[in-house]
Amino acid sequence: MQDLEPNRDISVDADPQRVLITGGAGFIGSHLSELLLDRGHHVTVVDNFSTGLRSNPGRVRSVAARHPRYQVIEGGVSEVLPTLDPARFDCVYHLAAAVGVRLVVEKPIHTIETNIEETSVVLRFAAARSLPILVASTSEVYGKGVRVPMREDDDVVYGATSYSRWCYACSKAIDEYLALAYHRESALPAVIVRFFNTVGPRQIGEYGMVLPRFVRAAMAGEDLEVHGDGRQSRCFCDVRDVVRALPMLLGNPACAGGVFNLGRDEIISIRELAELVVSTLGSRSRIRMVPYEKAFAAGFDDLAVRQPDLTRIRGAIGFAPTIPLVQTIRDLAAELVEREGEVADMVAHEASNAAPASVRGSR
Ligand SMILES: NC(=O)c1ccc[n+]([C@@H]2O[C@H](COP(=O)([O-])OP(=O)(O)OC[C@H]3O[C@@H](n4cnc5c(N)ncnc54)[C@H](O)[C@@H]3O)[C@@H](O)[C@H]2O)c1
Repeated sequence: MQDLEPNRDISVDADPQRVLITGGAGFIGSHLSELLLDRGHHVTVVDNFSTGLRSNPGRVRSVAARHPRYQVIEGGVSEVLPTLDPARFDCVYHLAAAVGVRLVVEKPIHTIETNIEETSVVLRFAAARSLPILVASTSEVYGKGVRVPMREDDDVVYGATSYSRWCYACSKAIDEYLALAYHRESALPAVIVRFFNTVGPRQIGEYGMVLPRFVRAAMAGEDLEVHGDGRQSRCFCDVRDVVRALPMLLGNPACAGGVFNLGRDEIISIRELAELVVSTLGSRSRIRMVPYEKAFAAGFDDLAVRQPDLTRIRGAIGFAPTIPLVQTIRDLAAELVEREGEVADMVAHEASNAAPASVRGSR
């Protein structure tokens, strides 16, 4: 990585900043890398490729001008960060996590350890130089969501600890407590973002994400499996809208110490989503309803509605998504064709290390 003078004003794109992204080879991280490189910044990614596609850094590098400002270090956060000097960075985006409904239910130890221990390492790293840090959290933190739309200060309600699904929500909630504690005790400029369902090109369905599963089935002419009565509803926001918000949140000093919902607030039921995928892609696939008891392994609990209240993020940065869901579906379908073989290989490798289970969700 090229040595630059420190640039502590990360709210402007005029001067190049030196950005560290953990999990930067993943779905959201690769889009964020691309955006920051296109704005002239230097990006260092730390990623162990546990769920990030190996082809993602290649896609990010696709423009020659990005290449010299982009570095990917392969490895786990807690192995790599002790070898890096925090003084060589201006800010940090912490996106690395154990992600996806299937992974979380099948591998709770991995989920809890990754999400809590790795976040602790990253926060200590940022605190050593008081680097502004954005910590990725999730709408799952709301748990069973006693109120809709969900507001950042709402109470959270989780299921019993015997339902391993809730370990993801609890581990991300601990990350939030930890980041907020660093902000209060050490004045660390930390901002927490609760992503709601983020969708778009490069997302993979193998770990339980609903839209890539539907798109792949529709393209293959297979049935789209909708669980329960299909009336459970979600809000889907394109990843390219989502990543535009992240530098605005991290670059605004007034956002430090804050928790922000990020997503779209238009609701769509999972049945309607399946219908939209079929009609948008002109597919002949049928929609098949699968009762929850058949679709989910023991230890899974689905939510009826998940919708963000976006008042806070609109007030802070004027966030307004622009990309319609049909456009996202088309772009995801076009890109899925290119990487079909790679995803199949990755999942086969993963399956050899995991107990088989049939767990899917409405994420
Ligand atoms: N996509 C969504 O809808 C969504 C919703 C809520 C929250 N989030 C959060 O956003 C963040 C990014 O998610 P994503 O959708 O891009 O998922 P992703 O799986 O594509 O990205 C996560 C990346 O982290 C990497 N990683 C995992 N453990 C690591 C470790 N110990 N060290 C280094 N790298 C590691 C993975 O290889 C992957 O590239 C996560 O923190 C996730 O919890 C995403």
